[in-house]
Amino acid sequence: MAVQRTFSIIKPDATERNLTGAINAVIEKAGLRIVGQRRIQMTRAQAERFYSVHSARPFFGELVDFMISGPVVVQVLEAEDAIAKYREVMGATNPADAAEGTIRKLFAKSIGENSVHGSDSAENAAIEIAQFFSEADITA
Ligand code: PPS
Repeated sequence: MAVQRTFSIIKPDATERNLTGAINAVIEKAGLRIVGQRRIQMTRAQAERFYSVHSARPFFGELVDFMISGPVVVQVLEAEDAIAKYREVMGATNPADAAEGTIRKLFAKSIGENSVHGSDSAENAAIEIAQFFSEADITA
C-alpha cells in the first residue's frame, strides 16, 4: 500500500476541553504524520458544504450548529494506508461502540460530539483536503 493522505478534524467538543495535544499524541503514536494543520472557526457555509452529503439526515442542522460552535483543528495526515488506519484510530462513530484505546473511546462525549472526523475514502479525502488546504500548506 502506497503512502496516502487523509483529512482529519478535531471537533469543537475536543478543542473546548484542550484535547488537541492529547489527540495528536494518539495520532502520532499510531504512525500517522501530521503534515498540515490549522486551527480555524468554520463558517456555517463551510460546515454545510463539508457535510452536504448528510443534508437529508435528521441530525444535519444539529451537526452543522455543533461544528460552528467553537474552533476546530483541520489536519492532513499521511501514512501508508492512512484512511483505514485513521478510521481505526478514531474508533466507531458512537463512542459507546468504540474499541478501547481509540480516540472516540478515550475522549468523545456522544455520537454527535465525537471529537474527531476522518475521511471515509480516497476520493472524499482529496475533496475534503482541497476544501481547507492548498498544496503549499502541506509539508511532509
Ligand atoms: S459515518 O462515520 O459517516 O459512517 O457515520 P454516520 O453515522 O454516517 O455519521 C455521519 C456524521 O454525522 C455525525 N452524526 C451525528 N451528529 C449529530 N447527531 C447525531 N445523532 C449524529 N449521528 C451521526 C457523525 O458524528 C458523523 O460525523 P463525521 O464528522 O463525519 O464523523
